[in-house]
Amino acid sequence: MNVHVVDHPLIAHKLTMMRDKTCNSKNFRELLGEIASLMTYDVTKNWETEPFEIETPLEKMTGTRLKGEVTIIPILRAGLGLLNGVLAMIPHAHVGHIGLYRDPETHKPVEYYCGLPKQMDAKCIVVDPMLATGGSAAAAITMLKEKGLHNICLMVLVAAPEGIKVINEAHPDVEIYTAAVDRELNERAYILPGLGDAGDRVFGTL
Ligand code: PRP
Ligand code: URA
Repeated sequence: MNVHVVDHPLIAHKLTMMRDKTCNSKNFRELLGEIASLMTYDVTKNWETEPFEIETPLEKMTGTRLKGEVTIIPILRAGLGLLNGVLAMIPHAHVGHIGLYRDPETHKPVEYYCGLPKQMDAKCIVVDPMLATGGSAAAAITMLKEKGLHNICLMVLVAAPEGIKVINEAHPDVEIYTAAVDRELNERAYILPGLGDAGDRVFGTL
């Protein structure tokens, strides 16, 4: 299975604070951003680098820089909560946006926006806090592939086994990075134990 559980005491600690229903939107947003930065370390661990000539104040040297372009793609809305944390680590990244929401009755994703940078060779990190049925992330990745982007990974905070299976089957080339794999989905396709509605908690629309 293409899934990496980013296992780190700081991430586990911060995620537990976010899950707590008494965590307010301000703290929720801050913790989400911090976890996104920490997870970026793992997501980029095996990325290719290239030699880069610089001059220190003392002499010339051959340093290292990331090879190629990077695009971060939040799935609106809740994915925006991860964006700044990833950008803090990769400030030269481009940013694309995909607008999707889950129909409350069918739980199927409904598309409403797609705005992407032109760099087709870029490594893409699709970001969204929740991978529940997997419908939204699978649809977002299909949209990206249809536009010509193919080097794609998915960063989420909490994943359900159902969602992981859907992505693995629909997009076996896509590596999933998650801070936790939770137990199951409830009858409304919410993750258990989960953290509730991520978009509402990020934006205070509860
Ligand atoms: C949430 C979440 C994911 C999606 C996950 O978004 O941010 O995009 O649900 O569910 P799935 O795996 O079953 O598709 P939501 O539809 O609530 O929209 P929002 O981000 O605008 O609140
Ligand atoms: N979307 C959320 O925000 N939370 C869930 O648990 C499932 C989908």
